[in-house]
Amino acid sequence: MFKPIVFLFLHAICDIALTTQCGKVWLTVSSLWRPIAAGNKVVDAELEVNWDLDCPPNVGYPDTIKVFTADPAHNKTIKPQLTLFILEQIRGYYRTNITVGRPSLSGGWDATGGATLPGPHCLKHYAALYKDNVILTSSCLQIWPTWMYDLRRQLGRLPIGTLMIPGTHNSGCYQHGDLTRRHAFERYLLTQDRDVWTQLVHGIRYLDIRVGYYYSMANNTTFDEEVSQVNRFWVNHDVIRVTPLMTIIKDVRNFLDVARGEVVILDFHRFPVGFEGRPSSHRRLVSILHREFGGLILKPDKGVEGLGPTLNDIWNSGRRLIICYGDKHTANEYDWLWPPMTQAWGNQQTVEGLFKYMDETITGHKRSRNSQNPLWAVMAELTPVPLDMLFEWTGGLRQMADSMNRNLTALFQDEWWKQTNIVATDFFLGNNLIDISIQSNIKKSNIAQWRL
Ligand SMILES: *[C@@H]1O[C@H](CO)[C@@H](O)[C@H](O)[C@H]1NC(C)=O
Ligand SMILES: *[C@@H]1O[C@H](CO)[C@@H](O)[C@H](O)[C@H]1NC(C)=O
Ligand SMILES: *[C@@H]1O[C@H](CO)[C@@H](O)[C@H](O)[C@H]1NC(C)=O
Ligand SMILES: *[C@@H]1O[C@H](CO)[C@@H](O)[C@H](O)[C@H]1NC(C)=O
Ligand SMILES: *[C@@H]1O[C@H](CO)[C@@H](O)[C@H](O)[C@H]1NC(C)=O
Repeated sequence: MFKPIVFLFLHAICDIALTTQCGKVWLTVSSLWRPIAAGNKVVDAELEVNWDLDCPPNVGYPDTIKVFTADPAHNKTIKPQLTLFILEQIRGYYRTNITVGRPSLSGGWDATGGATLPGPHCLKHYAALYKDNVILTSSCLQIWPTWMYDLRRQLGRLPIGTLMIPGTHNSGCYQHGDLTRRHAFERYLLTQDRDVWTQLVHGIRYLDIRVGYYYSMANNTTFDEEVSQVNRFWVNHDVIRVTPLMTIIKDVRNFLDVARGEVVILDFHRFPVGFEGRPSSHRRLVSILHREFGGLILKPDKGVEGLGPTLNDIWNSGRRLIICYGDKHTANEYDWLWPPMTQAWGNQQTVEGLFKYMDETITGHKRSRNSQNPLWAVMAELTPVPLDMLFEWTGGLRQMADSMNRNLTALFQDEWWKQTNIVATDFFLGNNLIDISIQSNIKKSNIAQWRL
C-alpha cells in the first residue's frame, strides 16, 4: 500500500527537477537594423532568442527551442514561428528575422492613465525549450511595470543604495515614430528605441537626462510666458536636441500617478547647451520641475550607513521621485534636490577595455563615489571618439550596444549583481538586465549583511 505512493511522490520530484533545473531561455530585441531594398523604410527591433542551459548530467540536453506568438502552454495547436534544432553551445543566442515592432503594452499599460493591472505581463512573443517534445521551460517578452511594489515583502527592507536598479543612458534620445533610413544613418544620435513611458513600463527605474536650454525659441513669449519657457528646454545628446523635455516630464508624471508604489530616479546629469555661466537657466528648470512634480519629490536622505532610505521608508513618505541634479551649486540651493550622482563612466572604446574598467569599478578597487549621495550608476556603454564618427569604424551606437548587450546580461547575472546599484545601458531591450535586477534584489533580500 505504501510503496506506490512513495514512487509517485519521487516521480513528481523528478518531473519538477527536470522542468526547473535545465537552465533558461529568454527573448531580447536587437538594437540593429537592416535596410529594405526599396524606399525609405528599414527593418528594426528583431527578436533574439537566448539560452543558458544547465541540465543535470542524468537529464541530457534539450533539443529544440521554439518561438510562438502566444503562450504554447495554453494553446496546444499553435504553430511555432521559428524552430531552432541544434543547441551546440551551453550559452548562446540566435537573431531571428521576426520583427517585434512597437507591440501594444498588455495589462492596460498602453493607455497613459487607463486601468492598469499590476504584475508582469507578456507581450506577443514566447520562447519555449523542449526535450523530446516536452516543454522544459518557457518565457515571454514581458513588461513588469509594478515590480518594486509587487515584491514589497522581499524588497521593502532594502536601502535604495543597495538595490540593483535597471536604467537607461541618455534616456530621452529615442526616435519618435517609425525608424527610417535617414534616422538610422544618424548613427551617433539615438541611444534608445523606446520612449520613456515604455521604458518605465518595462521596468526601467533610472533615467539619465541631459538638458539644453534654447534662447532662440523665445519668439513667442508675449502669449503665454509659462508655456514658452517650458518649450525652450530639450533633452539633448551632447549639443543636438532630440526630445522636448516636457514629453519626458509628462511620461514620468503619468507613470508615477498610475504605478503608485514605484520609485523613479531622474538624474539631470549634464547641461550641454544654454546653462554655462547662466544660473537663471538652472533656476527656470528647477522651478518647472517643482511645478510639475511637487508632492511626488522625495527629499535627499542618506539613511543608515549612507545607503539611503529603504523602500519601506520611501513608501511611508508617500514621495517616490528622486531628482538628482548635476550642478552642485543649484543642488545646494534647494533642499529637495539630491546632490550630483556619480556615474562610473569608463570612456572606453573597446568592449574588453570597458569590461575591465567596469569590473574594477564594481568590485570596488577604483570606485570614487559622491559620499553625499547614496546612489551611484555604472554606465555600461562604449564611448565613440570623433574619428569613429568620421570614418564609421564602429558602425554606430546600435552596433556598439549590440556588441556588448548579451555579455552584460551574463556578467551582471554571474558576477556583478551583488555590488551594483544602478546600471544604465543603451537599447535596453537587447539585454536582460531588468530581469537580472529583479532576481538579484530578491537574492539580496535573502542576505542579511551588505558590504558595499
Ligand atoms: C491557438 O492558436 C491558433 C493559431 O494561432 C488559433 O487559431 C487558435 O484560435 C488558438 N486557440 C486558442 C484557444 O487560443
Ligand atoms: C526569415 O528567415 C527565414 C529563414 O531563416 C526565411 O525563410 C524567411 O523568408 C525570412 N523572412 C523574412 C520576412 O525575411
Ligand atoms: C504663440 O503662442 C500662442 C499660444 O501658445 C499660439 O496660439 C500662437 O499661434 C503663437 N504665435 C506664433 C506667431 O507662433
Ligand atoms: C517660433 O517661430 C517659428 C516660426 O514662426 C515657429 O515655428 C515656432 O513654433 C515658434 N516657437 C515657439 C516656441 O513658439
Ligand atoms: C562575450 O561573450 C562571448 C560568448 O560567451 C564570449 O565568447 C566573448 O569572449 C565575450 N566578450 C567579452 C569581451 O567578454
